[in-house]
Amino acid sequence: MCGIVAYIGPRKAHEVIIKGLKRLEYRGYDSAGIALLNGSLNIYKKKGRVSDLENTLEDEKLASRVGIGHTRWATHGEPNDENAHPHYSFSKNLAIIHNGIIENYSSLKQELLNKGYSFKSETDSEVFIQFIEDIQVNNDCSLEEAVRLALTKVVGAYAIVIMSKDDPNMLIAARKGSPLVIGIGKDEFFLASDATPIIEYTNEVVYLNDYEIAIIDNNELRLKNTQDVASTPYIQTLDMELEAIEKGGYEHFMLKEIFEQPRSISDCMRGRLNANKGRLVLGGIREYANKLVNADRIIIVACGTSWHAGLVAEYFFEEFCRVPVEVEYASEFRYRNPIIKEGDVMIAISQSGETADTLAAIELAKSKGAIIFGVCNVVGSSIARVSHEGAYTHAGPEIGVASTKAFTAQLTVLSMIALRVAHKKGTITERRYHELLVEMENIPSKVEKALELDAQIKLVAERFKDAKNFLYLGRGYNFPVALEGALKLKEISYIHAEGYPAAEMKHGPIALIDEEMPVVFIATRDSSYDKVVSNIQEVKARKGKVIAVVTEGDALIPKMAEFVIEVPKTDEALMPMVSVIPLQLLSYYIAVMRDCNVDQPRNLAKSVTVE
Ligand code: G6P
Repeated sequence: MCGIVAYIGPRKAHEVIIKGLKRLEYRGYDSAGIALLNGSLNIYKKKGRVSDLENTLEDEKLASRVGIGHTRWATHGEPNDENAHPHYSFSKNLAIIHNGIIENYSSLKQELLNKGYSFKSETDSEVFIQFIEDIQVNNDCSLEEAVRLALTKVVGAYAIVIMSKDDPNMLIAARKGSPLVIGIGKDEFFLASDATPIIEYTNEVVYLNDYEIAIIDNNELRLKNTQDVASTPYIQTLDMELEAIEKGGYEHFMLKEIFEQPRSISDCMRGRLNANKGRLVLGGIREYANKLVNADRIIIVACGTSWHAGLVAEYFFEEFCRVPVEVEYASEFRYRNPIIKEGDVMIAISQSGETADTLAAIELAKSKGAIIFGVCNVVGSSIARVSHEGAYTHAGPEIGVASTKAFTAQLTVLSMIALRVAHKKGTITERRYHELLVEMENIPSKVEKALELDAQIKLVAERFKDAKNFLYLGRGYNFPVALEGALKLKEISYIHAEGYPAAEMKHGPIALIDEEMPVVFIATRDSSYDKVVSNIQEVKARKGKVIAVVTEGDALIPKMAEFVIEVPKTDEALMPMVSVIPLQLLSYYIAVMRDCNVDQPRNLAKSVTVE
């Protein structure tokens, strides 16, 4: 987590950096800071949002052409002014911004304390910069060399940028485990955790690799690794529009992203699926396609919403490809000595492509000979790069911390992969295959229709916005949707919510039901419909308040439920892409009505780059 931005060039550095940090606030927002060279090396930092920092900066004093900035998600030390980044070195000649965790920081700190150093903050990052300075002083070497030597000694994850009082024309950056992109403009350079702070200035970028150090010195970019081996920067051209990362008239990014879904799902299928021609092509899965087709089992790893997408995929793959699927929380998988054999197939799902636990699960599986397929949204992200092959979700930048359009795009990609495999394996009939291709093409217009429920959902939100608890129930393909609905509500409105398989309710959650308890049923017409209707009756009998998401035209459930939300009919296997829409909207409106910060909920971060 944490977002970092740095600039060197002819513009006012603080303007570029503050604007960039605002774009990166999804990565963390408990404090923010900036270091500038204006007279001397000055650090301005503050607990709170980037806008709080901005309000304290007096423009005329800030004329600096070089600077580094940070927006923080606390790992070491509580969010306060001292722990905010940047951090000075002991002499105040250097300043650092850091995203990641230095695992051996306490032993390094002890060493430095023994030598007489002292610390202003509780962070591992301040230890990092003092350690670099100590190496520079002891070895009487250049800053570049001191950084390199320090990197051979620290354990953990980092994306760092360092500036020096003595060298206004230089920035030094490095990465291992946390992302860092360098934008190359005319006589200027931008560094950031992702490309969003960069794209309005240039679309030429270099993604730094693990163990690489970038030295920007006198308008020139050089790369080397921690073993001191130089390399040539590989410049890529970004394909991203500025408008994709702005709110476009919506009050929140989350609402914009919910409403973008008809388009993002279409974008995800574009050029890949053509039902008319019976064509389904995934350009990113070629060489290893047969590994998927011949797999004895598939392991899916992910976290959060992406894990829910994995659960839907489990139903889909097992039904159509007849292959056993295990869906694993990446954080559990990596630490439980899992059984992985040479040639096993893993699908890793991640919006950001940077989630630390998912990355570690991949590394573990890879080390045992598994073939990894990445399903990521962020192009060029770490998970996309370490996977053998994969398919991007192409949902466009997702800025709201609560994931919405990435989820439906993940379902789209995973369904396409499964259909491709099923077709190759012959575990699906031609008729069913074509039916599903046609129905997938219809999903964007059905999502569009589901979005028309907006006004109706506001009424439900108004009625239940003060509830203390919520229960979400569904079966089959709609069970993961229940989990996702509950997660959305928890994340942004801070109401306790649980998702459960509807039939499991009897084994515990039913005890919670009374006249105060709203119970959201995802009860669309499918193979478990009758059973879900019985579950609704069980809730009614205990005076629970039923809110039901049903298929349009349902005549039965409206007689039982307090609120009914009708979504368009679609294939049972594709229903999650449609039935999740009202749940996204419900959580959004409840959060707005409760005055919560929808796009930046407390304690959360969009990209969890710490384990
Ligand atoms: C965080 C985000 C969630 C996301 C999860 C996994 O918790 O707040 O929205 O689902 O990380 O992230 P990933 O980028 O791997 O999908």
